[in-house]
Amino acid sequence: MADKHNNVDFVNWFRLSSPYIHAFRGRTFVITFGGEAVTDDRFPHLIHDIALLNSLGIRLVLVHGARPQIEKRLRRSKTKMRYTSGVRITDDAALSCVKEAVGAIRVEIEALLSMGLANSPMAGAHIRVASGNFVTAQPVGVRDGIDYLHTGEVRGIDATAIGQHLANGAIVLLSPIGYSPTGEVFNLTALEVATSTATELNADKLLCLSESKGLRDGRKRLIRQLRLSETEKLLSGKRRIPEEDLSHLKFALCACRNGVRRTHLLDRRIDGSLLLELFSRDGIGTMITADIYEGTRQATIDDVGGVLELIAPLEAEGALVRRSREQLELEIAHFHVIERDGTTIACAALFPFHEDSGGELACLAVHPDYRESGRGEALLEHVEHLAKERGINYLFVLTTRAIHWFRERGFVLVDITSLPVKRRELYNYQRNSKVLLKELV
Ligand code: ARG
Repeated sequence: MADKHNNVDFVNWFRLSSPYIHAFRGRTFVITFGGEAVTDDRFPHLIHDIALLNSLGIRLVLVHGARPQIEKRLRRSKTKMRYTSGVRITDDAALSCVKEAVGAIRVEIEALLSMGLANSPMAGAHIRVASGNFVTAQPVGVRDGIDYLHTGEVRGIDATAIGQHLANGAIVLLSPIGYSPTGEVFNLTALEVATSTATELNADKLLCLSESKGLRDGRKRLIRQLRLSETEKLLSGKRRIPEEDLSHLKFALCACRNGVRRTHLLDRRIDGSLLLELFSRDGIGTMITADIYEGTRQATIDDVGGVLELIAPLEAEGALVRRSREQLELEIAHFHVIERDGTTIACAALFPFHEDSGGELACLAVHPDYRESGRGEALLEHVEHLAKERGINYLFVLTTRAIHWFRERGFVLVDITSLPVKRRELYNYQRNSKVLLKELV
């Protein structure tokens, strides 16, 4: 650490990452990368980062690709490659190249994960790696008259066996091949193996390290976050999406629809991309989030009844300020609700204070049956997302009871002088609420 500035940066960075360190312990992440990453000179750096995640108690499954390595062997043996709509047709000669390439990569990764040299990032790591026949495959078969031979698709994942290795603290390493009950070997795509594994394990995250420089919007800006519905819209829209991003998005969608909470698409060429994504709030890639947001929408006049019912008990306890039906009708357009089967199970309001680029988060309430389900958190995230879209730089909240809940989610206690002037004028001194604020970066 050369100077004071560096010290401060280091300490700040480390502190910012600590909530994630806590949150990720014991979680299951599936990480996939192409064969290109393995040939990169900086591949050992990626492995070091993976070792670090392992030592933080994250349960890891790695799925590697092998395309360039397979192609190299095919060229060497002067075997012709055949593709139909991007899918390789694996004949006998190609299958031997696949087996060789996959075997070599697997050994290389295992070797790197076994390093424990003193004075290196791997000192004291002692990592166990487990690989095996965890993936069952079946042939793609004959489609439109074309026989795909040894090209296969995932038929099953032995989640129990993988789970046992993870419980033992091992990193599970999977290759893009699978075995059939008839004893055959099939060539699979790494992305499919990774997605199926993440789904079967109910993984918390699927992280795809990609060759692409990142998914861009119409103005070439990196898309940082997408909800399921937004991803669907993007996929069915007119905008041309580069091939690799497209297939990542499709698999991300599939993973998130099937219970994986977050899928991240990362440019693997950014050194430390995994760490940057995981241990910062905004990350450096695109995050696709499962719709725990499902049913989340802006409220309409028809929601007034549902919202009133939801907040009535909290008003009676004094946890929320009383609102009359008339007042709520006037304010309803600022409300967002989560609805399930016709019942309003959560609500929150966002009141913008444009002159100050701030916003008030108010009236956050969750139905008692759903208190522990993360709905409040989901709605808070939703409101933060909306606020950012609307150019709001910070959110504040006035509360008498939920101080800790908000502090745990990045809000800090501030003085009432931090409120926008207009809001300060309305402050109810008798109620004496605490003011908490969160910068939206
Ligand atoms: N570090 C957090 C996580 O891993 C948030 C990452 C946000 N990333 C993004 N591209 N918006 O869940």
